[in-house]
Amino acid sequence: MSCLKIDGGKRLYGEIAVHGAKNSILPLLAAAYMCQGQTVLHNCPFLSDVEISLKILEYLGCKCERQGSTLIISPSNSNCFEIPECLMREMRSSIVFMGALLSKMGSCVMSLPGGCELGPRPIDIHIDSLTKLGAVIECNHGFLTCSLPEGIKAAELYLKFPSVGATENIILAAAVSNGTTVIHNAAREPEIEDLALFLNSAGAEINGAGSDTVVINGVNRLNGTEYTVMPDRIIAATCMMATAACKGRICLNNANKNHLIPIISILRDGGTLVDVSDSGLTVTSHFRQHNFGTVTTQPYPGFPTDAGPILVALSSVCKGTGVFIENIFDSRFHYIDELRLLGADIKTVGRVAVITGVKSLVGADVVSHDLRGGAALTVAALAAKGCSIIRKPCYIDRGYQKIEEIFGCLGADIKRTED
Ligand code: UD1
Repeated sequence: MSCLKIDGGKRLYGEIAVHGAKNSILPLLAAAYMCQGQTVLHNCPFLSDVEISLKILEYLGCKCERQGSTLIISPSNSNCFEIPECLMREMRSSIVFMGALLSKMGSCVMSLPGGCELGPRPIDIHIDSLTKLGAVIECNHGFLTCSLPEGIKAAELYLKFPSVGATENIILAAAVSNGTTVIHNAAREPEIEDLALFLNSAGAEINGAGSDTVVINGVNRLNGTEYTVMPDRIIAATCMMATAACKGRICLNNANKNHLIPIISILRDGGTLVDVSDSGLTVTSHFRQHNFGTVTTQPYPGFPTDAGPILVALSSVCKGTGVFIENIFDSRFHYIDELRLLGADIKTVGRVAVITGVKSLVGADVVSHDLRGGAALTVAALAAKGCSIIRKPCYIDRGYQKIEEIFGCLGADIKRTED
């Protein structure tokens, strides 16, 4: 089993380009399945979740070729409309194939999706919305059987919560249809906008993505297209907060400042310098940062839940006390027990963590339990004095392409080794 070995306490210096966003690529690959011509996707890192999506596409009959960070997806002629349970259970976002398969095949059979353990992750909003679009969906013993007896019926939908995955599934299902579907209280995450831009480049007519009202004018078909995936805002946030925790100066060449406003604001308030220019973001930290007061995770444009664990890691070495409230998922604090092993002073009650910053963390042997929690442990270990071991980096590999190279090229002493 591999693990990460980190000799912490080094300042971070250098510049990097942030790789493509996992949470964008996965729905784009489901959208590519619907296209009738070849799709060329640039800026696709090697991530285990991307490789699983490619296996799903291949199982469904697509030919997938990788040339560096470019993926070329050729359309399928297969009649397959089932996804094996072993692939569905590997990640949460396998659920977006429901909208894509319904659109292309008129039916699908799949198990409930898997993904990181963050507490219950129901799909009632997906099912309710697709049902209103004309799907008949049965869920028995963890398996979903879906059909579309009369095709997609355009509808006006209101989401009781702005679910990212449900918004993506609706957009995928309604992109090729007769009539206009409107989503009210849609998720506003930048990855939704990226999906709409991709689909529009393939011939779809989607307006308002990125706002809370998305209007999908159904078209007859989607063509092949060429598209570059947006940079990953959570990786940018990770590098920014790691620099505040370790001190130093880094430049993120292609980060989109508009996607990072809560992070920039918290860092600046705590004393870290963040310069924004046309070419990216520069983060400079010479002193121990002040803690952040109270932060609550919210749907975009609020503070992103996926950056929460990294903020808690940073907060552990800040001056003063921070209160962090996880408002999106029920059970996202598994990593906090491991942060305590590194010397963090954190008390939790339910979804609330109270973090009293310590002058310095100390190296320890810790285990990742999920993707962002594993990244938080990496950031804490980079800031800690002495050597740390992070076990089960496979979770981190779901969303960070070789995290040891990302931080290694910023001057950190981090290596992947076998136990
Ligand atoms: C996506 C991201 C994930 C991020 C999350 C919130 C991908 C692959 N994953 O996940 O990294 O943490 O957005 O920004 O893009 N909910 C329901 N019923 C539903 C759907 C969701 O109750 O049918 C609840 C969930 O349990 C959760 C909240 O809504 O409490 C957010 O879920 P959602 O926005 O759907 O997140 P995901 O699409 O799963």
